[in-house]
Amino acid sequence: MKAFDSDSQTERSRIVARAVAVTANTALAPQRYERQLLDRYQRGELTIDQVISLLDASTYQVLYHSVAAQPFDEAQLQALLERSRNFNGRHSITGILLYSDGRFVQLLEGDEQQVRQLYARIQQDPRHTQVVTVSEGPGPARRFADWSMGFGRVAGLEVAEALDLVVSQETLPAPEVAEPYLLALLQAFGITPAATQLGQAEKG
Ligand SMILES: Cc1cc2nc3c(=O)[nH]c(=O)nc-3n(C[C@H](O)[C@H](O)[C@H](O)COP(=O)(O)O)c2cc1C
Repeated sequence: MKAFDSDSQTERSRIVARAVAVTANTALAPQRYERQLLDRYQRGELTIDQVISLLDASTYQVLYHSVAAQPFDEAQLQALLERSRNFNGRHSITGILLYSDGRFVQLLEGDEQQVRQLYARIQQDPRHTQVVTVSEGPGPARRFADWSMGFGRVAGLEVAEALDLVVSQETLPAPEVAEPYLLALLQAFGITPAATQLGQAEKG
């Protein structure tokens, strides 16, 4: 499909390369979702205006926790993840799922209608109960643009502590967190876990 008559593919590639170079190592550096949009622009499938309006579209986010009806074994977790990544990838939903001792924490983000519909289905899923919404609403930008559904297995206590921090918006003291997905979840909510030496956290 041709998006431009005047803009050649070479020109679009140069524009993208320049944008990527200028933003490298800054907070604006394009992540996976943004890269996908830029690739589509490069291929002439999207105009730059379409890319900008997709990037500007505010993201709707849901964070919840729940309890597995029966503990999930490895095969069940993998099946759930495979299904989720497949569906989420096709609907531009990104996020993170943490599992610990029969408890789930999940953050979903994407288009409001898509996220609400998916969350409604997840809430009805008999494989878990006690689904509690921690926060829900529009967010400024994708926090997990890189993951159609990042997955981490964490110690129960860490999840509980992390959720307490997210809910209370507390800044101090944050626990030391080693698990990368949990770390990412905390950072997404502006909580920087304690530096080992200082035992303090900053709110970013
Ligand atoms: C903890 C948990 C998280 C889930 N996360 C997702 C998800 O991110 N994406 C997804 O498509 N399905 C997810 N599911 C599965 C959905 O609940 C549901 O089974 C799936 O969307 C199929 O729905 P359907 O049977 O009505 O078609 C999750 C289920 C559980 C228990």
